[in-house]
Amino acid sequence: MEKSLAPRSVLVTGGCGFIGSCFIRMLRDRDPEVEIVNLDLLTYAGNPENLPGITDSPRYRWVRGDVRHEETVESLVGSADWVVHFAAESHVDRSTAAKAGAFVDTNVYGTFVLLDAVRRLRPECRYLQIGTDEVYGDVAFPQMPDEGWMLDPSSPYSASKAGADHIALAFARTHGVDVMVSRCTNNYGAYQYPEKMIPLFITNALDSLPIPLYDGGGQIRDWLRVEDHCEALLLILEEGRPGEIYNVGANQEPERTNLEVTEMILECTGASASLIEHRHGLRPGHDQRYAVATEKIRALGWTPRADIQEGIASTVRWYAENRGWWEAIKSGAYREFYEAHYGRPAS
Ligand code: NAD
Ligand code: TYD
Repeated sequence: MEKSLAPRSVLVTGGCGFIGSCFIRMLRDRDPEVEIVNLDLLTYAGNPENLPGITDSPRYRWVRGDVRHEETVESLVGSADWVVHFAAESHVDRSTAAKAGAFVDTNVYGTFVLLDAVRRLRPECRYLQIGTDEVYGDVAFPQMPDEGWMLDPSSPYSASKAGADHIALAFARTHGVDVMVSRCTNNYGAYQYPEKMIPLFITNALDSLPIPLYDGGGQIRDWLRVEDHCEALLLILEEGRPGEIYNVGANQEPERTNLEVTEMILECTGASASLIEHRHGLRPGHDQRYAVATEKIRALGWTPRADIQEGIASTVRWYAENRGWWEAIKSGAYREFYEAHYGRPAS
């Protein structure tokens, strides 16, 4: 396929979250002229402070709204050359708690509403569904699922994301919408909400608080720097083929267990290993290993830049230098979940 033309206007959903905000910052750096509309409801996970220096730009507009709301979405898709759909409920532990219907609602139904508006009002745009490798489920070593692998999600989160992928691909096949799906491994980096393992462990280590390591810490995640992920997304938008799925992952060699990543965090923060608190039963259905084959995205010319050791070191530096950002979250919206889930105060 020919390289797609640079977009004049991009609709991003969930751009106040961790990955969506990195994508917006990167898009803006690449092309200061591009118009960016960010549809974000600002749930507990959204934070306009993730977009420093962007919010005042005349070519940026934030619409506080819901991807599930037809009229809002209809009013925004009309001029988009790219629609990049990040908005989601994204935390596995919240999806296993009571009253987790928002995962199905936002992740599946929200995706449908957005695609249906694209189909009717902007069929010529490129649509990228931001997916996750968790849809392949627990992957036994040494298997590396490629994009045709059977989906076997374990958690309500990953099941809802699998549903969203299916809806998106159905719109490509049935309605001819120019849909692509990316499936990336676990991300880490600046501005990640401190409910996820890496920022939670870094911020707890910086405050000498217990580090709640689940189920022995032998699980494998293929950690990827968020900037590497966003580079891959831009490449897919520019050069991907309609109707195709692209796995994205670091392919860490050797693969790293959660305990090994925790040890890197302890080393970089100078915190004591005695902070590790082994916890069991907090992650029902805990997947042991995620991994993906990435030949397809690499064939487009993508390769991750950051090494895990360097990446963890620079991420620790960011959290150490940006205490105000995460202290506001840990003493605010996150507190209630933390206390209920971990059974102790968040700070
Ligand atoms: P996040 O939780 O940090 O951000 C989600 C954003 O979506 C927030 O800004 C929130 O306000 C917004 N949002 C939620 N519900 C909404 C709704 N109904 N309408 C509009 N906005 C809404 O998530 P993230 O970690 O940045 O993940 C972004 C996407 O990437 C998700 O689709 C996730 O499944 C996928 N993904 C994440 C990872 C990871 O490691 N974090 C890896 C692979 C894929
Ligand atoms: P997480 O960051 O929640 O991402 P995901 O569940 O989407 O992979 O968890 C990453 C790994 O870290 C996972 O194996 C569960 C583990 N974990 C802990 O050990 N303790 C924690 O407090 C959290 C949140 C996760």
